Amino acid sequence: MLLNLKNILVTGGAGFIGSNFIRLFLEKHRDVDLINLDKLTYAGNLESLRDVESDPHYHFYRGDITDAAFVRRLFNEWHFDAVINFAAESHVDRSILGPQVFIDTNVRGTMTLLEAAREFGLERFLQVSTDEVYGSLGPAGKFTETTHISPNSPYSASKASADLLVRGWEKTFNLPTMITRCSNNYGPYQFPEKFIPLMVINALQNKELPIYGDGLNVRDWIYVEDHCEAIDDVLYKGKIGEVYNIGGGNEVQNIHMAKLILNKLGKTESLLKYVKDRPGHDRRYAMDSTKIEVELGWKPRHSFEQGINETIKWYVENEKWWRRIISGEYQNYYKLQYEER
Ligand code: NAD
Ligand code: DAU
Repeated sequence: MLLNLKNILVTGGAGFIGSNFIRLFLEKHRDVDLINLDKLTYAGNLESLRDVESDPHYHFYRGDITDAAFVRRLFNEWHFDAVINFAAESHVDRSILGPQVFIDTNVRGTMTLLEAAREFGLERFLQVSTDEVYGSLGPAGKFTETTHISPNSPYSASKASADLLVRGWEKTFNLPTMITRCSNNYGPYQFPEKFIPLMVINALQNKELPIYGDGLNVRDWIYVEDHCEAIDDVLYKGKIGEVYNIGGGNEVQNIHMAKLILNKLGKTESLLKYVKDRPGHDRRYAMDSTKIEVELGWKPRHSFEQGINETIKWYVENEKWWRRIISGEYQNYYKLQYEER
């Protein structure tokens, strides 16, 4: 029997994965209220949720997960049955430029939510984590749920710290927590700083495509909807105290991905530009998703070909969405990150 969840706190719902999750979840579950708590940082964007904002089961609050008084008031008002914590600073390169906010939001913010959940009680606390907590792989093998945690960037160290807090609150306080660790997502509404949208948007503008190092780093790409479906499965069917790896099973070298995007857009490979590598750059990620596939019956439904075609089409058709982002503060970030690289 499915858990009877009546209201769920979704943090970071105005971001890339959170907004896709809200859209998908509201379509699938018509008797659950979703409460989206988002600070609307540079990465939060209510434009990504225009089509669901009038849904009677969707409720938005602007706020910060590190603000304990605010979080308590929200828990007191709603008495959530579940929390899904997407809210985070999510970009590795930004964590190298300035780690403090990563510790604040990803670590202290997670603890604030855990404490509120402990005080008010709930059925499920799902922490949305990442394969990056496992560190880097050589040419062979995959990450399993028992792989050692060895983060290599301020971002992944902050996510790993949050995972450990979640574990601690489960073991000590019996909080019903679960952790999902997913590989690299791609799809609609991803902020242009990330690799795939950056490549597509630069190519569309005939701008150089910056490739870090030798371009041979490998990521295991998953279409965002497949990740969202996995989270839904873990929320309803996952076991308390467990970690679930989620991977797309699509290992692609960065240079191959960039060339493929140029090719699909009919652009020249002379736009490729090798630039200075990212410090601590993880060489390869690959997820073993056997556990979630066997225990919960999840499988990614999108082939890589289908997912990448849909993603490129979305950016081509939604120029207004990304133009507004790249014309603002993003310009300063882009200069800082790439001008002297
Ligand atoms: P994103 O940067 O697009 O969105 C993050 C959202 O969190 C934004 O809406 C932002 O406004 C909000 N936020 C940030 N700080 C906040 C705070 N203090 N209080 C409330 N809201 C705050 O990130 P994303 O790519 O959608 O990632 C979502 C989650 O999934 C993150 O926890 C990330 O670590 C994890 N994850 C991402 C990927 C990926 O490939 N993008 C893969 C695995 C796991
Ligand atoms: O693996 C999951 C993680 O994937 C998530 O936890 C993170 O939130 C998400 O940002 C992502 O991290 P990555 O560092 O893997 O993704 P990013 O899109 O920043 O980079 C993907 C690869 O592309 C990586 O090897 C670095 C490279 N890259 C990236 C950028 C932005 C370039 O070569 N050039 C670029 O300009």
